[in-house]
Amino acid sequence: MGRRKLIAGNWKMNGLRADGTALAGALAADSGAGSDVDVLVCPPATLLAPVADALAGSRVALGGQDCHAKASGAHTGDVSAAMLADAGCAYVILGHSERRQDHGETDAGVRAKAAAARAAGLVAIVCVGETEAERMAGRHLEVVAAQIAGSVADDATAADTVVAYEPVWAIGTGRTATSDDIAAMHAHIRALLARRLASGGDIRILYGGSVKPGNAAEIMAVADVDGALVGGASLKAEDFRAIVRSCG
Ligand code: PGA
Repeated sequence: MGRRKLIAGNWKMNGLRADGTALAGALAADSGAGSDVDVLVCPPATLLAPVADALAGSRVALGGQDCHAKASGAHTGDVSAAMLADAGCAYVILGHSERRQDHGETDAGVRAKAAAARAAGLVAIVCVGETEAERMAGRHLEVVAAQIAGSVADDATAADTVVAYEPVWAIGTGRTATSDDIAAMHAHIRALLARRLASGGDIRILYGGSVKPGNAAEIMAVADVDGALVGGASLKAEDFRAIVRSCG
């Protein structure tokens, strides 16, 4: 069975109620999706409830940007996977490089969060990617292999796990990896997943980092690219729709 493409919008720490619900409403009316593309938006936590309302009845799914590894308890400021599911989420982004940098998230921590997410019925989107210094040093394949080994559980399945490859130097910079570099990394990740996991051949691998309407079709055509994690361009309905449409 072929892997359905997934286009995920990561709104990051952007949007107040008025613009978030307007954007969600615009995507609910027309996400640009054909029958074989899944579409997802991941707003900040404060907008989950109103965006869930705006998306009700549409084909656009809702996701969180992080969750705690515990189900509940004394963790001020955190949100649990069960809370995300309760708010209408089907997915959660975990281990984004901004969280790895800003909050010192580790592979083991991301793996624990992914376990909590899967237990709550969410699909965990586990993010990996090398820094520019690591790529310059020729260490990108080994860095990502270590992140996959540490962050993705041994019993992860295609139904509950998505991997997002996001080279840190391409995020929000307007620079994208070349198609050859993306192909090489996605083949590497595919091989790592297939070797270790029963459904590793079916797990979707997204590319992220300055995906735009102008480069999306070329990136989506690369082997083993099963969709995109889109930051900046997901904040404009027309740009996000164009990226969704680029899946063909
Ligand atoms: P960008 O962000 O599309 O703005 O580069 C992608 C991401 O960080 O998920």
